[in-house]
Amino acid sequence: MPAHDAGKPASTRPPLDVHQRVDPLLRWKERLGYLALLATLAWLGLSVALSGQADFHASRGPVAAVHQNWETNCQTCHVDFTPISSHSWAAPFLGDPAQSTQRCESCHAGPTHHVGQPPDLTCGSCHREHRGRDASLVNLPDSDCTQCHRDLYKNALVKETSWADVSRFSADGHPTFRSIKTDPGKLKFNHQRHLAAGMALGKDGGTIQTLGKIPESHRKRYRDQQAQKADDAPVQLQCASCHQVDPGDLGPADFPLSLLNQRPAGAYMLPISYENQCQACHPLTLDQIAVPHRWQPSALHAYLEDSFTARLVRGQAGLLDKKTVRPLPGKLPDMLTPTLREAIAGKVEFAEKDLYVSKRLCAECHYFEGKSVAEAIKRGVAPDLRVAPPNVPTVWLQHAKFNHRSHRAVQCADCHAAAATSEVHTDVLIPDRDVCVKCHAPVTSQATPGARFNCTECHMYHNGDHGGQGVGAASRKPASARGLADFLK
Ligand code: HEC
Ligand code: HEC
Ligand code: HEC
Ligand code: HEC
Ligand code: HEC
Ligand code: HEC
Ligand code: HEC
Ligand code: HEC
Ligand code: HEC
Ligand code: HEC
Repeated sequence: MPAHDAGKPASTRPPLDVHQRVDPLLRWKERLGYLALLATLAWLGLSVALSGQADFHASRGPVAAVHQNWETNCQTCHVDFTPISSHSWAAPFLGDPAQSTQRCESCHAGPTHHVGQPPDLTCGSCHREHRGRDASLVNLPDSDCTQCHRDLYKNALVKETSWADVSRFSADGHPTFRSIKTDPGKLKFNHQRHLAAGMALGKDGGTIQTLGKIPESHRKRYRDQQAQKADDAPVQLQCASCHQVDPGDLGPADFPLSLLNQRPAGAYMLPISYENQCQACHPLTLDQIAVPHRWQPSALHAYLEDSFTARLVRGQAGLLDKKTVRPLPGKLPDMLTPTLREAIAGKVEFAEKDLYVSKRLCAECHYFEGKSVAEAIKRGVAPDLRVAPPNVPTVWLQHAKFNHRSHRAVQCADCHAAAATSEVHTDVLIPDRDVCVKCHAPVTSQATPGARFNCTECHMYHNGDHGGQGVGAASRKPASARGLADFLK
């Protein structure tokens, strides 16, 4: 009997060289393994090599905190097997990234940057995800902006503009500021005079304004802000006597925020008001009549007539014109004798000259629209005059952000050096680019401290034409609001 008979047919017995042969299945497994590795490496390599704008075709980690609710539900943002960024090199093979934009817009709209601009960039091209919970979605690299702004002509986005090439925030890479070329304000003012002690300029600078001359009701406020407190001390104003940062109270709670300029607390200065900043030294009294402020000349004309009439006819019923039979309420002037009427008209005319011609009252601060003032008064048509709207801007830079609070440690004069010597209100006192680049520039030495200088530090992107609109603006709302359960999906 053969010693090696194991009781099985020869065909089912394992071959003797079983340990030397390689299983084809195993061989393919291994090959596929290498292939997968190669494909991954090729994908990553192509990603690194071909992707512009620093996008990278692999998920690197958690999404930002605002989106963490949906982190495990990839379809919230992604369309399966479709890239999400316009810069993706894989878009020609895998599908149109624009589909993903609709996913984003189902929760919040990203209004276009500019009217007429083609919506050629998907949301995911700029708002990069998977960079960790705390990574900013809105602090973008300059290349996101300069991809167009490096050459707006070449990119055929505009035909004519003076700033077609913006490469970085520096003296040679960024334009000077357009919004501050001229001062649109129409309120006369002299900074130099008001910052001088006692408002006295030069030797014969006029009478000295002392604390004692300011009415009691206002005096304490001015006394508190200066070193010399005696009543005969000259008044010394500071910038803060007139300019205070806006605490950001946006008025009545039911007022639609989106209609207002975006004015984060502390960013801009409160508007000048006559009552708070001027009245103490420029009261509006004339011939012992307190003239109300902010009335137009037409209203003031009637007011002055009434005031003078009341004063002249007081206790003098005999002066009423006998020919007028029936006194009508409010028609007192019609009932007066012609002599008295003339006297009143004379007084009104004299008063109006004082108000609108002498540089003592309204005309000290205001311009007028319409007829020449002197002529209007001569022809007795002062009511036709209109005070030109002061129009003092609160927000100067229409196309960029600014925030005084972030710069509160810097002296006013470092940015508004011209204020101290400005004599006419038409001077523009807002700093231009060259002041900003002293700090907003790369660190080179101790002289340039290196405050951030990326585009998104100073600019909005969405709704650029209406940069002042806040995030509550209607244009930022999603296509439709959803129920809670739906939203959390
Ligand atoms: C809040 C939205 C959001 C969610 C949720 C989300 N992603 Fe992303 N994902 C993005 C954005 C935006 C990018 C583009 C990132 C870039 O370009 O740097 C991206 C990029 C990627 C990429 C790189 C490929 C490409 O198209 O650029 C992969 C892979 C990826 N995500 C996988 C996932 C997976 C898997 C999930 C679910 C577990 C997920 N993502 C959930 C927003 C999201
Ligand atoms: C399921 C709803 C949902 C989807 C889809 C969604 N987001 Fe958001 N996103 C939110 C919420 C909620 C917030 C936080 C509130 C806010 O600022 O609007 C937010 C905030 C943001 C912010 C502001 C972050 C900040 O720091 O101020 C950006 C930018 C943003 N999302 C971009 C995107 C992009 C790009 C996509 C598409 C890839 C997207 N979101 C998809 C819900 C969503
Ligand atoms: C060219 C780059 C770019 C593209 C493309 C882009 N954004 Fe933005 N986005 C920004 C910048 C910069 C900010 C921050 C400044 C601002 O608010 O305008 C921002 C802010 C946001 C915010 C937060 C501010 C807010 O309104 O609450 C949301 C949400 C947002 N984008 C959504 C979107 C959506 C949705 C899309 C696609 C339709 C999109 N973005 C496309 C650059 C971009
Ligand atoms: C898709 C191309 C494109 C991208 C990306 C782009 N812009 Fe613009 N931008 C334009 C066009 C077009 C105009 C309008 C030019 C004109 O009408 O003269 C413009 C105008 C502007 C203006 C001036 C007027 C205004 O409305 O504010 C500023 C500032 C600006 N862009 C900043 C930015 C910043 C910051 C970014 C990056 C977050 C950016 N842009 C990204 C195309 C682009
Ligand atoms: C007595 C009140 C008063 C004081 C004090 C005062 N200002 Fe003004 N300021 C005004 C008025 C009124 C305007 C608006 C009229 C105008 O454009 O000059 C104005 C306008 C400005 C503007 C707007 C830009 C411009 O070109 O018109 C700046 C900037 C400014 N002041 C800075 C200063 C600084 C800095 C100081 C302190 C050195 C100062 N002001 C002190 C009343 C004052
Ligand atoms: C602390 C007192 C004081 C305050 C506050 C004050 N002024 Fe005056 N202002 C004066 C004095 C004093 C003069 C010089 C005498 C005069 O012309 O009335 C003057 C002069 C002027 C002149 C003529 C200047 C010239 O040199 O041609 C204008 C215009 C003027 N003020 C506007 C304003 C406005 C607008 C405000 C409020 C924003 C204001 N002033 C607040 C005291 C003040
Ligand atoms: C010392 C300077 C000063 C004098 C004098 C002065 N105003 Fe004004 N006036 C202002 C300032 C500052 C404003 C803007 C802020 C405000 O409304 O308080 C203003 C605003 C106005 C407005 C509102 C215009 C608008 O469109 O908002 C009218 C109308 C007006 N003044 C009329 C007058 C008349 C009429 C007189 C004379 C009786 C007069 N003012 C005297 C400083 C002055
Ligand atoms: C870092 C530079 C810088 C400093 C420091 C600075 N400002 Fe300004 N200021 C600006 C710029 C830029 C604007 C234009 C902002 C706008 O309206 O868009 C401005 C605007 C103003 C305006 C016009 C109204 C407004 O809010 O736009 C006044 C008034 C003013 N500044 C007063 C002051 C006073 C007072 C100080 C000191 C407490 C001061 N500034 C400090 C840069 C500066
Ligand atoms: C004395 C140095 C200095 C000057 C001059 C200066 N900045 Fe700044 N700025 C800073 C610092 C510091 C910060 C806060 C830190 C940061 O954001 O890097 C800042 C922040 C800002 C911010 C972000 C504010 C916020 O809270 O969102 C804007 C916008 C800005 N600066 C605009 C300007 C403009 C426009 C000018 C020129 C008119 C200017 N800065 C001049 C130092 C300066
Ligand atoms: C330190 C703040 C700051 C930084 C950083 C900055 N800008 Fe500006 N930029 C401004 C201001 C302020 C204006 C003038 C806005 C105005 O006049 O209303 C302006 C104007 C512009 C304009 C022209 C607007 C016009 O109509 O004249 C463009 C375009 C622009 N910036 C693009 C950029 C780009 C792109 C970057 C990044 C490479 C950038 N800015 C960086 C502050 C800044």
